[in-house]
Amino acid sequence: MTEQRKILITGGAGFIGSHVVRLFVKKYPAYRIFNLDKLTYAGNLENLHDIEKSPNYEFIKGDITDAEFINRLFQEKQFDGVIHLAAESHVDRSIVSPMDFIITNIVGTVNLLNAAKMIWLNPNTQITNPKFYQISTDEVFGSLDQGGYFTEKTSYDPRSPYSASKASADHLVRAYGHTYKLPVLVTHCSNNYGPYQFPEKLIPLAINNIRNSKPIPVYSKGENVRDWLYVEDHALAIDLVFHKGNSGDHYNIGGFNEWKNIDLIHLLCNIMDKKLGREAGASAKLITFVTDRPGHDLRYAIDSTRISNELGWKPSLQFEEGLEKTVDWYLSNTEWLEHVTSGAYQHYYDQQYHHR
Ligand code: NAD
Ligand code: DAU
Repeated sequence: MTEQRKILITGGAGFIGSHVVRLFVKKYPAYRIFNLDKLTYAGNLENLHDIEKSPNYEFIKGDITDAEFINRLFQEKQFDGVIHLAAESHVDRSIVSPMDFIITNIVGTVNLLNAAKMIWLNPNTQITNPKFYQISTDEVFGSLDQGGYFTEKTSYDPRSPYSASKASADHLVRAYGHTYKLPVLVTHCSNNYGPYQFPEKLIPLAINNIRNSKPIPVYSKGENVRDWLYVEDHALAIDLVFHKGNSGDHYNIGGFNEWKNIDLIHLLCNIMDKKLGREAGASAKLITFVTDRPGHDLRYAIDSTRISNELGWKPSLQFEEGLEKTVDWYLSNTEWLEHVTSGAYQHYYDQQYHHR
């Protein structure tokens, strides 16, 4: 018999969440997939236009920081799985307004844990094999010098308000696993890139600026290193961990794909020159070195050996291939990009959902 599950995906209207929702809706027709999202500036239901009418999909507009609402929702829907992506996710914004990160990323996570605990640990409810899966980041491990990798054994050492808020949330997830025996999973992923990423993060920002012949802001001299992973490969890893991971497991997810920001931007400029039919070197002239991010972590690098060995996951795309695919997507989805940059995407919910 096909397994039927009721899975809550939080933050499903965001960048990574929309890829996870799409994958689960298409791959598991017998599941019911509930996408809970507040639709902050980062939430965009246009990301899910292609699957929004699927019979196994339901969108719920709501805020994870509202405990009463979250408790009611869990009582009513009796979810047997939670994949928790909803968060304030941009490091630069966390430096300007940390409190939004504390409230959403920490309090919001605790509200979900309490609601899951309320229904899953109640002997009168019959929920089999429940799972609470926290989507975390490699940034909780701090910053590396030139050598070494973050492994699952690396100690936490968060250094920005964003990473400190994610680390706090992870600790609470682990504490609920330890104290109440709530079945929890945690993964730490490196920098994602690909379609539907909000153009305030480095890669989509640079693509959009090159397209419009505007300056590409590179912090300091662009010496900082990030490990990049195509977003669909992350979604596939999430699927594997959710289904095959055991309670208490945690995995690192990364691409073994380190790039200095400046080298990445040069590669992107070369791809954009070709795609836009511009003379070689034209886009690179837009590179503008700007004031560094305060407390800017030098290097992140993930050792993803454990998930490879235990669950058989590995990235499917080479970086050049993934970057070219991403550029193609942004250049052929100019309407999406224009709705995001003009703010028109924020009316999509009222237009599509309120008239139903
Ligand atoms: P995003 O900013 O694109 O999306 C976040 C989503 O959460 C948005 O749809 C937003 O509306 C929603 N949200 C925010 N506050 C909410 C609230 N109070 N209630 C309900 N919904 C709310 O983020 P992303 O880049 O897709 O990241 C998703 C998750 O993955 C985050 O938890 C992030 O920490 C983690 N992560 C991201 C990356 C990356 O490279 N982007 C890497 C590793 C881990
Ligand atoms: O490592 C995982 C993390 O990756 C996630 O947890 C975060 O949610 C996600 O936003 C991302 O964080 P970063 O800070 O690494 O991503 P961002 O795209 O903001 O920056 C990537 C690098 O590029 C970083 O070294 C800062 C630099 N940068 C960024 C911007 C926006 C620039 O040089 N110029 C820019 O304009």
